[in-house]
Amino acid sequence: MEKILLLSTLLGLLASTTAYAPNWESLDNRPLPQWYDEAKLGIFIHWGVFSVPSYSSEWFWWSWKGQHLPALEFFMNENYKPDFTYADFAPMFTTEFFSAAQWAALFNASGAEYVVLTSKHHEGFTNWPSKHSFNWNSMDVGPKRDLVGELAHAIRQNTNIHFGLYHSLFEWFHPLYLKDKAAKFETQDFVASKTLPELYEIVNAYKPEVIWSDGDWEANSTYWNSTEFLAWLYTDSPVKDTVVTNDRWGKDATCKHGGYFTCQDRFNPGVVQKRKFENAMTIDKYSWGYRRDARLSDYLTMEELLKTFVETVSCGGNMLMNIGPTKEGTIAPIFQERLLQMGSWMAVNGEGIRATHPWKHQNDTITEGVWYTQKRDKTGGLNVYAISLNWPTGMTLSLGVPMPTTSTEVTLLGYPAPFKWQKRNAGGIDILIPKIGFNEIPCKWAWTFKLTNLMN
Ligand SMILES: *[C@@H]1O[C@H](CO)[C@@H](O)[C@H](O)[C@H]1NC(C)=O
Ligand SMILES: *[C@@H]1O[C@H](CO)[C@@H](O)[C@H](O)[C@H]1NC(C)=O
Ligand SMILES: *[C@@H]1O[C@H](CO)[C@@H](O)[C@H](O)[C@H]1NC(C)=O
Ligand SMILES: *[C@@H]1O[C@H](CO)[C@@H](O)[C@H](O)[C@H]1NC(C)=O
Repeated sequence: MEKILLLSTLLGLLASTTAYAPNWESLDNRPLPQWYDEAKLGIFIHWGVFSVPSYSSEWFWWSWKGQHLPALEFFMNENYKPDFTYADFAPMFTTEFFSAAQWAALFNASGAEYVVLTSKHHEGFTNWPSKHSFNWNSMDVGPKRDLVGELAHAIRQNTNIHFGLYHSLFEWFHPLYLKDKAAKFETQDFVASKTLPELYEIVNAYKPEVIWSDGDWEANSTYWNSTEFLAWLYTDSPVKDTVVTNDRWGKDATCKHGGYFTCQDRFNPGVVQKRKFENAMTIDKYSWGYRRDARLSDYLTMEELLKTFVETVSCGGNMLMNIGPTKEGTIAPIFQERLLQMGSWMAVNGEGIRATHPWKHQNDTITEGVWYTQKRDKTGGLNVYAISLNWPTGMTLSLGVPMPTTSTEVTLLGYPAPFKWQKRNAGGIDILIPKIGFNEIPCKWAWTFKLTNLMN
């Protein structure tokens, strides 16, 4: 007994003192914290000074002053005084209706298990009172509030959602960044005085459990000192045991090193990946930041959202679904509706999503739009979930992959009675669909059939 205790204490000590070295070989060996793999659904929030013009996209400043896109030059000439600068938008980032508690309740109702807020986008404006961003932060100008701190607090106070932060390594127009870039990234003045101090600052102050890095792509990870930062994050930081990160830590790192892989935006590979991945995508097809001129057809429908979600999860990924709040701090009703619809879907179908794993097949071979997940129940039995994006048109749903045994049971999540089924002669199973009244259908989109005791 004592020996066992001693051994487990020793193992515990070893586990909690795992030291990571500042190189990719060591960092890539860190096991992914389990909560992240199980969560499957996260909410991405793009909010910043770009939410003031709320036109074109969150890349507004670059599109206007970097690319000189005629549409933006025209928009500025038509609507603002001739000498108006991008910085002049900041005092108009008023956030007067921002209630972190309301946001937290909405996110909780969406069924998501983590959120990722932009702490700082490529414009460099920090949504927290950074000591390293003089007069270009949410306490000195605009909101006069600590937006990151308020949301972190409300989420932790009221929900079990994991709180994460997006952080852009580069800033389009920061003079020190431009200087380093002109020196072919052989100097690191920007990294030393801005990027790293701010990264340490947000981790120590807000203890985010996701660091969603971005804006890395012009330089390699040596310039950003990414491995040094990550070795600290995984070994010594206050979130060392639970934090997860992505792969955008330098142009040599993306889709190769780091935590989970994001590869490119809206990454939905359709096949199982070797490494955990996340599909970071937007409900507004054309922008991450809020757009006042968006049309209804620019937003994904629930059918489109769930298709993306189910495909992603079936291949082992998480989906990080983006919304863009307004400069007033509100979340437009269309985004609220999608979040609540996701929540209503998850309330019925979450069993086939949360903490599941990819099955041996991802989609069916006979019926299009059927995607699989699997999970062991408490008794150790393996359940397979066949999520059908379409309601079966005929009397049967024919599945080519699951091989039933005599003890196989088929149910529809959210529906009380089991379904009859027949073995297909050519292999697979025909699920017999009874007449189901309109009021008995458990949800409006994407239905989850649970199959037990299949052949291995
Ligand atoms: C969060 O959502 C869960 C599941 O829908 C619900 O039971 C709980 O009451 C919610 N909590 C808050 C604070 O809204
Ligand atoms: C980056 O890491 C190297 C190697 O550890 C170190 O010598 C250098 O000072 C670091 N640079 C910054 C800006 O922290
Ligand atoms: C990164 O860039 C620097 C400067 O251009 C170069 O010296 C170094 O070899 C590069 N490192 C990697 C890992 O590509
Ligand atoms: C299964 O998914 C793959 C990858 O997305 C696709 O190419 C294939 O057509 C799908 N099969 C069916 C029957 O839908």
